[in-house]
Amino acid sequence: MAKIITVFGATGQQGGSVINTILQDDILSKEFKIRGISRDISKPQSQALASQGVELVSADMNSKESLLKAIEGSHSVFLVTTPAWGVEGSDAELVHGKNVADVSKETGVKHLIFSSLLNVTNETSGRLKHVPHFDHKAQVEQYIRSIDVPATFVLPGYFMSNYTQLGMLRKGDDDVYTLAYPVGKDAQFPLIDIASDMGKYVAAALKNRSAVLGAQFFAAADYYTPARILAEFEEITGKKTRFVQVDSETYKTFIPGPMGQEMLENHLFIESPGYFKGESLKESHDLLEKASYRPTTWKTFLEQNKYSL
Ligand SMILES: NC(=O)c1ccc[n+]([C@@H]2O[C@H](COP(=O)([O-])OP(=O)(O)OC[C@H]3O[C@@H](n4cnc5c(N)ncnc54)[C@H](OP(=O)(O)O)[C@@H]3O)[C@@H](O)[C@H]2O)c1
Repeated sequence: MAKIITVFGATGQQGGSVINTILQDDILSKEFKIRGISRDISKPQSQALASQGVELVSADMNSKESLLKAIEGSHSVFLVTTPAWGVEGSDAELVHGKNVADVSKETGVKHLIFSSLLNVTNETSGRLKHVPHFDHKAQVEQYIRSIDVPATFVLPGYFMSNYTQLGMLRKGDDDVYTLAYPVGKDAQFPLIDIASDMGKYVAAALKNRSAVLGAQFFAAADYYTPARILAEFEEITGKKTRFVQVDSETYKTFIPGPMGQEMLENHLFIESPGYFKGESLKESHDLLEKASYRPTTWKTFLEQNKYSL
């Protein structure tokens, strides 16, 4: 009988990627039956998954009772948490992650794959202490380890979709696309096509469960400097670009509210000590290759998305 994998964030980018990859994988699609979690199983994104054979279960990570029904009987679980963006001092993401960890422990889940990140406060010895969407994920990872749930940690890099969907590359009146960052043009951004590639790392982990328990994987195609991001953007799209390094105060005016400080410190962390502290991506790429997957490069992503720019 097929094992159950429960996928949180099924209607979002990461969970959606995990579901698509499993459905398209000859081995995993037979090995696993997918249970997708949404707070609203009647919405069109949920119904679209149901029409592909995904079992949709309604649960809210705030409610342990609903999580018990969602996770019960699962062999594996993919967990992505999201912060309460802009709500200063919120620990919602930490609570959500711990709730899923506790219920996974209680129900005997054999493999929890968590979308984690590094702890910015700790890694910078308190120099940058306003990036809770990183710190809370690292704290959830630490909690999962502390209660001994068999787990693997996939740390996604900087989303390529930030440039296309969040408007980080802005077209000016002169038709030139401007990238403005509070960091220098040599900072290293580990880029990932999240909707396409997150599922590949998770699928590779599922296929190599015993070898990857307790491991962290840095999920990104490569490290890209802003200079390379723009050079390849010009090459693929034929459009002109410019890079502007702005000071911290100017950068914060781009993003009002507490998010300004958070995003500023997030980028300062990328510059130093580095999004993944400068760690090599080789081990993660080896894992993908073992499962016959390849990461999507920035150039390929641009080829596929240039008409939406
Ligand atoms: N942008 C970047 O460069 C970057 C880099 C690394 C990591 N990240 C992290 O990536 C995460 C976002 O991932 P994503 O893009 O896949 O998210 P997304 O597309 O916004 O989807 C979020 C999903 O979470 C579900 N969800 C939200 N609250 C929930 C709750 N209380 N209970 C159950 N499900 C809930 C939503 O499901 P329903 O609405 O259907 O319930 C939705 O499917 C964030 O934590 C962010 O920090 C971002």
